[in-house]
Amino acid sequence: MTNTPVQLKANTATITLNDGTKIPFVGLGTWQAADRDEAYNATLAALKNGYRHIDTAAIYKNEEYVGEAIKDSGIPREEIYVTTKLWNTDHKRAKEALETSLKKLGLDYVDLYLIHWPVSTDPATGENYKDWDYVDTYKALQKLYKESNGKIKSIGVSNFNKERLERLLSDPEVTIVPAVNQIEAHPFLPQPELYDYLKEKNIIIEAYSPLGSSNSPIIKNPAIVSIAEKNGVEPAQVLISWAVQRNTVVLPKSVTEARIISNLKTFTLSDEDFATLNKLAEVEGVNRICNPGWNVFA
Ligand SMILES: NC(=O)c1ccc[n+]([C@@H]2O[C@H](COP(=O)([O-])OP(=O)(O)OC[C@H]3O[C@@H](n4cnc5c(N)ncnc54)[C@H](OP(=O)(O)O)[C@@H]3O)[C@@H](O)[C@H]2O)c1
Repeated sequence: MTNTPVQLKANTATITLNDGTKIPFVGLGTWQAADRDEAYNATLAALKNGYRHIDTAAIYKNEEYVGEAIKDSGIPREEIYVTTKLWNTDHKRAKEALETSLKKLGLDYVDLYLIHWPVSTDPATGENYKDWDYVDTYKALQKLYKESNGKIKSIGVSNFNKERLERLLSDPEVTIVPAVNQIEAHPFLPQPELYDYLKEKNIIIEAYSPLGSSNSPIIKNPAIVSIAEKNGVEPAQVLISWAVQRNTVVLPKSVTEARIISNLKTFTLSDEDFATLNKLAEVEGVNRICNPGWNVFA
């Protein structure tokens, strides 16, 4: 067992999406950073320490605080990549929902607007619409993308499985391939079939819950800890570096400044360590952590 520390470097690299825009590989996640102090301070700390990509959503209830931090950072808007997401109950009113998000963020445009879940819910009843689904929502986003005078630079989806994407892409009125699919991805949920399919369609994966989310068992997993110790890095840096090495965008969330700083620093895993991580789900079993139970992963 060697203990030679590897070269860690703040990762400010970008990857090009299928619409020609560029997105930074590492973005700050902001789910569960709902109060002003947490969301504002985390976003500001991230931007001051080299992040140029922030992931939020209408349902995170922190767009205002994220927006304030972006403004207070003094970094030019065009240097920061901002994603927000359309919530389930707003699928029939995407235009208004986008306007509300922009207003809360205090921005003229978002870089990426995602359908948060392929679930279209009637806010009045809490039931799923019978006359509307995620394909209709995607068409609404397409229209918004084309007609909003640059208020959205890219559109994409989140929590879409292969079958839903196939159905979406086979619709003759769908003319824009989603730029990304934001999904849970880490060594215990590598999603190989979806990974290959998205690669073939030139849709970039954005890996959410890359550390296994709150109270994560993943970050304490002996195989992850052992690779971290061997390389002289943090377990989180192993997980984030693995995601980057698979050519996926990765969205670690933290409200702790020291972690925010260390999470941006990635390294190149050896072929052996990369292969070990790639096989972990096969060896130890798959572990999906984020599942609100809307039957979307069946
Ligand atoms: N599209 C979707 O449906 C969806 C779903 C889930 C998540 N997301 C996005 O993906 C982002 C990330 O996912 P996530 O928030 O579920 O979880 P995550 O990033 O996998 O994990 C966050 C947890 O790990 C802790 N942590 C952060 N850095 C650490 C480090 N270096 N060492 C040890 N612990 C560390 C955080 O604690 P502290 O904050 O206390 O430091 C927090 O408890 C979200 O914030 C959101 O932007 C999207």
